[in-house]
Amino acid sequence: MNTLYLVTRLAATLLAGATMIGSGASAQTTTPSTVDARADVIVRQLTPEERVRLVHGIMALPFGPKAPPLPPEAILGAGYIAGVPRLGVPALTETDAGLGVAYIMGLRHDGATALPSGLATASTWDTDIAYQGGAMIGQEAWRKGFDVLLAGGVDLARDPRNGRNFEYLGEDPLLAGLLDGAAVQGIQAQHVVATVKHYAVNDQETGRQIMNAVIGDAAARESDLLAFQIAIETGHPGSIMCAYNRVNGVYACENDPLLNKVLKQDWKYPGWVMSDWGAVHSLSAALKGLDQESGSQLDSQVFFDKPLAAAAERDPAYRARLADMDHRIIRSLIEVGVLDHPAAKTPIDFAADAKVAERAEDEGIVLLKNRGDLLPLLASATRIAVIGGHADVGVISGGGSSQVAPPGGPAMTVHIGGEGQMAMMRSIMYMPSSPLQAIKARAGGAEVHFDDGMYPSAAADLARRSDVAILFVTKWQLEGYDAPDLSLPDGQDQLVEAVTGANPHTIVVLETGNPVLMPWLDQAGAVLEAWYPGSRGGDAIADVLFGVVNPSGRLPITFPASLSQLPRPNLPGWGLPETQAFDVDYNTEGANVGYRWYAEKVLKTLFPFGFGLSFTHFSPSDLKVRGGATVTASFNLTNTGSRPGVDVAQLYLTDTPSGAHERLLGWSRIKLDPGETRRVTITADPRLLANWDVAAHTWRIAGGRYGVAIGASAADLQLSGTADLTPGLP
Ligand code: GLC
Repeated sequence: MNTLYLVTRLAATLLAGATMIGSGASAQTTTPSTVDARADVIVRQLTPEERVRLVHGIMALPFGPKAPPLPPEAILGAGYIAGVPRLGVPALTETDAGLGVAYIMGLRHDGATALPSGLATASTWDTDIAYQGGAMIGQEAWRKGFDVLLAGGVDLARDPRNGRNFEYLGEDPLLAGLLDGAAVQGIQAQHVVATVKHYAVNDQETGRQIMNAVIGDAAARESDLLAFQIAIETGHPGSIMCAYNRVNGVYACENDPLLNKVLKQDWKYPGWVMSDWGAVHSLSAALKGLDQESGSQLDSQVFFDKPLAAAAERDPAYRARLADMDHRIIRSLIEVGVLDHPAAKTPIDFAADAKVAERAEDEGIVLLKNRGDLLPLLASATRIAVIGGHADVGVISGGGSSQVAPPGGPAMTVHIGGEGQMAMMRSIMYMPSSPLQAIKARAGGAEVHFDDGMYPSAAADLARRSDVAILFVTKWQLEGYDAPDLSLPDGQDQLVEAVTGANPHTIVVLETGNPVLMPWLDQAGAVLEAWYPGSRGGDAIADVLFGVVNPSGRLPITFPASLSQLPRPNLPGWGLPETQAFDVDYNTEGANVGYRWYAEKVLKTLFPFGFGLSFTHFSPSDLKVRGGATVTASFNLTNTGSRPGVDVAQLYLTDTPSGAHERLLGWSRIKLDPGETRRVTITADPRLLANWDVAAHTWRIAGGRYGVAIGASAADLQLSGTADLTPGLP
């Protein structure tokens, strides 16, 4: 935090006071014209005790060795920070997370609507769907009395084994950033503060509290940080949550370059930085840009209480910082409308909210294979086998702090036990939306039989005696743990081999939190990726199977063909004692995360970023490319098939004056009727044509000729063109 900024802030605070004092005015005679001025008026009136009251909070759960007593006005949930009622500042009642109001291990039984996983929303490539999802979960949080929803996870999928990828939005900074920003807008429109997290480079769960992410400034700016930057500039989140891990040797929550220089100076972020729970290691973190200590009972001590008050008493730097910390928190509460529209416990229309979740899943399901147009299922299928995945009960969901349970609780909970810091969360929960029941409801007169898939021989026998087999497989993931590999667990590959071997008309439905290997792919008739399907996932899956919905999902994350294709085939830190620190050198791939890496290494993946089939077909034509300060591409897109459908036409950078580079520059998601042609125009965010010039501390586009292409995926580039760009600093 540079001194000039602090002095300015302090001066503004005092000036607000002076105006009050100078004019002899009684309590506030004129409403301050800006959010900052209004915040300054409140900050100036805080007593020394109130100043520190706002900058530290507890986990509002009876957890942990030092769990403090819950204040009467606290709501069971992730966090509680006392407010200043006499000045109209409500307590901060905080709940997780990005897929709905979290379950907190059953300590609350009021239930909430579960969105499908973040990867499902990301597969829609639709900012409106992201917005509507955010608005729905934000509204449920508000109606439960929460004014902070710890949603907005946007860490990039650098590793397809990361246990929290299901909470996030994939491997591309533009796609993830824009969708995250839209979700944040939706949440905050309900007067609930969202918190974009986990800042930054928290790209694996193994050793998350001690691992050190090593990454160069340019590489970070052009990848992980760009996702945060786009999310922040489009979503205007009231808060940012700094991560557990270290970045270039320094804990993210006391990382001056990340917090003060990049976030607050370069990006001019006006809101507040809260820590992750148990991620504060020093009082001096306040000077490094941290504004609030969360879940303080998990830290070695409460740094931002008496120690901070004493420091502010004796040290002008801490005094100025504390005023700025309070200002940032209060200005966000004002800007999001928390002060003027305090959360109020009111009834929730769960039926309406479930439709929001179902739409996200409808549009987020990705059709990966459809040999001989096996799908959509036709009335001719008179005997249908439904196998595995507990499809008779419901659909799987991801574990950890983001876990949501619907009203009435989960359909089934399978405790799997285990060790580690999050061991108490190692229970698999199924949402009560049974694919089997949904299939039966849509199958007309067909016979539908279920087999649980425990014995591949029995499942194969049922498949053999059926016209088609619909086989559900699952891969459960949770916070705090990565998957050791990309395979389906619990011997499911053998089950798939047996069933597809018995009936070539087998549809494999994946309910996974990450990409998976498919050794049986050639035998399968069709494959759908349904991710974690959410509160109405069974209905959404059945809608696609029977053609009620024409699938339009496109992969936001690459499905590698093998672990050997990854920058780090062996998961860093796997098997190390939890207390042993280790580095992860992300400079191996640098900014080339995901598809950019596979393009650079010329690797053929199993399914590429951006891939997805439809029940119809689309064809781009007549590409025109214009250069100048950025690239603008115009082209025709035609539905050449026989049914309406939605396509996601993608614009990629392919070549630059300094060599080949693949980057997503933009996309257009468009619904077309059979035979319909529309002209589409996509203009690139110039930062994606630029590189970060570390020496000059700015984005820089090198002048010259650039190659671009329209693609149906990162690996299927259909039309190409070039554009001459003028050198510039976007
Ligand atoms: C967790 C998570 C974070 C969550 C917080 C509160 O450890 O990392 O995403 O919001 O604690 O539950």
